[in-house]
Amino acid sequence: MRARAAELTTSAADRAGFPAPSVPEIAFAGRSNVGKSSIINALTGKTGLARTSNAPGRTRLINWFMVSPPAALGMPPVHFVDLPGYGYAKVSRSMREGWKPLIEAYLVSGRPLLGVVILVDARRGAEDEEGELCEFFQAHGIAAVVVATKIDKLAKAQRKLAAAAIARTLKLSRPVLAVSARSGDGLDDLWRRLRALAKK
Ligand code: GTP
Ligand code: MG
Repeated sequence: MRARAAELTTSAADRAGFPAPSVPEIAFAGRSNVGKSSIINALTGKTGLARTSNAPGRTRLINWFMVSPPAALGMPPVHFVDLPGYGYAKVSRSMREGWKPLIEAYLVSGRPLLGVVILVDARRGAEDEEGELCEFFQAHGIAAVVVATKIDKLAKAQRKLAAAAIARTLKLSRPVLAVSARSGDGLDDLWRRLRALAKK
């Protein structure tokens, strides 16, 4: 399943740059370098849509992508929102301190937010930051879909175990989806979870 169309709407460095609310939004959050931009590219089938990099901290702005979901889903257009990553130690302190308010400003500014996809590196598992993110979303009544990503880096036998460990650590009642932007594993399931968010 691939999106029918996807294109950049706008990028913002601060609240003043946020686009006027239009279609519902689904945001992608997670540690720097976890693969947020890559999963947006994989879901849309557009390789160069969101900029990806080996160097953590690639995404410094909030980027809005207008996406027409796969025809099979019968889902209206949404904005995918690519959030900057958190938790990357090597960027300057001022840069890190700059991102957090930007992300929080986005999350609490009354956007038409359907929910947030939280990406967790399948090999690394959930740590304190992911727990804090989940609590933040719960406290603000924001629906969260947790996915274990880069699953291609794990042997098949370990994939379910890794996803189950993340669900346990985060005390989730729902199983965590195992996905890979590289192999395409789990992307159809993720699309269906996104549609479920849109239907609530
Ligand atoms: P920031 O914008 O810095 O927060 O990073 P990001 O979360 O957007 O990560 P990005 O998509 O730029 O990916 C970081 C690196 O991980 C890149 O080198 C990607 O090629 C790699 N990567 C992303 N997803 C996968 C995956 O599913 N499998 C594998 N093997 N590598 C991946
Ligand atoms: Mg990125």
